[in-house]
Amino acid sequence: MRHFLKETDLSPAETAQVFAAAAGLKAGRGRAAGSALAQQSWGLMFFKKSTRTRVSFQVGVHELGGLPVMLNADDLQLSRGETVADTARVLSRYLHGMVIRCHEHGLLEEFARCGTMPVVNALSDFLHPCQFLTDMFTLAERFAPGRPDQYAAALKGRKVAFLGDTACNMANSFVLGGAALGVEVALAGPAGYEPGAAIRAQLQRDGLPETFSFSTDPAAAVRDADMVYTDVWVSMGMEAEKAERLKLMQPYQVNARLLALAKPSAYFMHCLPAHPGEEVSAEVLASPQSIIFDQAENRLHVQKAILAHLAAARG
Ligand code: CP
Ligand code: NVA
Repeated sequence: MRHFLKETDLSPAETAQVFAAAAGLKAGRGRAAGSALAQQSWGLMFFKKSTRTRVSFQVGVHELGGLPVMLNADDLQLSRGETVADTARVLSRYLHGMVIRCHEHGLLEEFARCGTMPVVNALSDFLHPCQFLTDMFTLAERFAPGRPDQYAAALKGRKVAFLGDTACNMANSFVLGGAALGVEVALAGPAGYEPGAAIRAQLQRDGLPETFSFSTDPAAAVRDADMVYTDVWVSMGMEAEKAERLKLMQPYQVNARLLALAKPSAYFMHCLPAHPGEEVSAEVLASPQSIIFDQAENRLHVQKAILAHLAAARG
């Protein structure tokens, strides 16, 4: 049984295949009904808020010929004490796959272990791999326009700067995924927000080197970058630390002055939702360098390719 809980659950060769498949699905959208999930029902379970992930997965399962079953975790017996293990066993009797957004990453692992269907990570406190893969696809579209077979190769050796909350799930995904795909990841955030022990241990388990760099100097990270990325300063679940984070992360706001230090051809990216005036200026969000809405759109195409890949692997 194949799952997609972290970036390294797909080999680099499979990632290249997913990129090519996503490009095909994007180009052919609306022309022919998809059948990769025909006769299948996939559960989409959310413990946290979502706009992009919720809608892109629901539409994606539908467009692949499957039935999306939306599950608000609060509405399940899980919220009244039924175990994750029993929930996974029961839902596996009805469904062909499961997409889950949750807090602890361990819940995804337990669900995958106890169930008998593929599980996809739609964001945990630890990683956001569907977003990372989409971000790399979106960047590669720019680096190798019209040549999806070259997307993975076009990313190798590129420098991306990640600013702000360098200990969050998105930053972890860049640390892990960057090492796997040969992308140079330069993180800049406040002292104390270095990538933590858990993501370093994951690199080790995957046999990947620590290729990322961490600095408290945003200018150093951004210099010569091909892409500058940021995420919210207060991730879901971190609201109690809001005041402290807003103060500490102020020097890492991506604004026109900072973006000017990157390559003139550099792109600005953000997984969204954005908070203009906090982690990024309104000017940068709306600038021609910003490709945030391509990222949002591509969630649909890349996730469809991931679901089709997992369904095919199951046979
Ligand atoms: N980027 C992202 O995952 O957005 P949502 O939280 O709206 O799903
Ligand atoms: N780091 C953010 C990402 C939102 C898509 C969060 O976890 O809230």
